[in-house]
Amino acid sequence: MSKKILVLPGDGIGPEITAEAVKILNACREAGLDAELEEALVGGAGFDAEGDPLPESTLAKAKAADAILLGAVGGPKWDTLEDLSKRPEKGLLGLRKNLNLFGNLRPALLYPQLAEASTLKPDVVSGLDIMIVRELTGGIYFGQPRGIEERNGERVGFNTYVYAESEIERIGRVAFEMAQKRGKKLCSVDKANVLEVTMLWREVMNRLAPEYPDVELSHMYVDNAAMQLVRAPKQFDVVVTGNMFGDILSDAAAMLTGSIGMLPSASLNERQQGMYEPCHGSAPDIAGQGLANPLATILSVAMMLRYSLGEPTLADRIERAVGKVLDQGLRTADIAYPGTRQVSTSEMGDAVLAAFAEA
Ligand code: IPM
Ligand code: MG
Repeated sequence: MSKKILVLPGDGIGPEITAEAVKILNACREAGLDAELEEALVGGAGFDAEGDPLPESTLAKAKAADAILLGAVGGPKWDTLEDLSKRPEKGLLGLRKNLNLFGNLRPALLYPQLAEASTLKPDVVSGLDIMIVRELTGGIYFGQPRGIEERNGERVGFNTYVYAESEIERIGRVAFEMAQKRGKKLCSVDKANVLEVTMLWREVMNRLAPEYPDVELSHMYVDNAAMQLVRAPKQFDVVVTGNMFGDILSDAAAMLTGSIGMLPSASLNERQQGMYEPCHGSAPDIAGQGLANPLATILSVAMMLRYSLGEPTLADRIERAVGKVLDQGLRTADIAYPGTRQVSTSEMGDAVLAAFAEA
């Protein structure tokens, strides 16, 4: 049966980068992928058109889709909206929560051609291949109660950091299984020296460990993990952590690879339905100028083919095509350096398309 892919361009550079990824998706369809594409509004675009960052119709289409490709959401235009529930980010968080996309995979892989583009020394990052497994539908992002209220004559802001054992266990299993398929090392990141919720996190990870005897489990406090990521990042294979720590550490890990413009992601639920998006944001400052790097979104399509559409061969072909384009010395502004050729967003997309045709 034909698969359904929902494309949600979103805001800022979102439409530009998804347009390039859709070119590749269409090439995959020509190469035999049996899929239908549909588009819908989300984020600020959803708010502007329908007064809601996650319009009913978009949510219904998302639920019916096998896979979703999302660009990015947000921008200064909506940052002043007093009603937080109308902010573009709520569209993204609402999709994650409603589809129960608790397992967020964020691979930080350094293409050898980009060793020079990293702000870290090439010998620190060359060969880097980390998989961050971030819990995505719980923790402080969703905990109740939350809010800003008047207490003793001043306003107080508060959020709740909460994880149930079952939530920790299911993300733990995703991470252990991922480690089994990779280098068999799993580092669980917490703040168990201070926060009870992460003491429980550590306890559950330890409890799971004997079921995965081939995986070596270690624990690290998040502050140390942030330091180790920039000090000696190659010590990591799979990292598992909660929602907020994962948000922060994955941006840091992204920079090791040269640019956050290179980092794709997958967000999966229990039945492998997935949302695929670049890890970067909507970059409103460069929107519409052809400066954005479409490779993270194109690589997100590869993850979609691998994890939700059962097409690993096409996924490999896209990844090979990206490698080839980098070999050719083509670079968007974020990864350009002397000796390379700077190209626009669509030139980069076209180059990947051409390389895909030959790959
Ligand atoms: C990410 C983003 C989102 C997050 C924002 C846009 C809500 O930073 O996907 O990492 O915090 O999860
Ligand atoms: Mg983030």
